[in-house]
Amino acid sequence: AKIKEVDFVKSSNRPKDCPKDDRPEFAMLGRSNVGKSSLINFLVRKRDVALTSKKPGKTQLINHFLVNKSWYIVDLPGYGFANAPESARMDWSSFTKGYFMNRESLVSVLLLIDASVPPQKIDLDCANWLGRNNIPMTFVFTKCDKMKGGKGRRPDDNIRDFQELIRQIYWQHPPWIMTSSVTGLGRDELLLHMSQLRNY
Ligand code: GTP
Ligand code: MG
Repeated sequence: AKIKEVDFVKSSNRPKDCPKDDRPEFAMLGRSNVGKSSLINFLVRKRDVALTSKKPGKTQLINHFLVNKSWYIVDLPGYGFANAPESARMDWSSFTKGYFMNRESLVSVLLLIDASVPPQKIDLDCANWLGRNNIPMTFVFTKCDKMKGGKGRRPDDNIRDFQELIRQIYWQHPPWIMTSSVTGLGRDELLLHMSQLRNY
């Protein structure tokens, strides 16, 4: 499961401009600012392979990264960010149809969920949509380092509540992994999970 090299391949603004779908592929999906680009850097252990920002709306194109010359990680723009400039905003309905439904090589969507906030309707809707369309998904809870030991709600509470709500709308229990790109939590587990799915 070791990552030896990672190469940026291209940015595409439409699914049909993406590289040929001839290699296993994982797509980062989730709300703006949830940590999709950070998770890529965390997995490949490089600071700036994917560009990140404190401000939501940083990633605006479909970015393909080739790992070990054999499989792709795809960084996507986030959803749920209303303030992106109209010109830069992705048309999600055509995007979802064009990419998620037709990408033969898509092994799993990594659906990123911010563990530092209570369950968000938009994430539940997204999981529901993927489930109804039989698109395999893995829940990747991000920012698990936040609020550790503090008073009030903790990441564990938010994750438990999210799973409970998923059980009410979806008959499957997608695999799930807790991560933090700050502490390194979950890196080995996620890499192993991805390698098992690739070889399946
Ligand atoms: P868009 O490209 O706008 O869709 O956002 P994104 O999902 O790619 O988020 P990005 O990786 O740019 O990260 C957003 C912010 O969250 C940055 O300030 C990151 O440093 C921070 N962040 C990401 N992962 C973690 C994490 O595990 N823990 C903490 N504490 N902060 C994180
Ligand atoms: Mg991003």
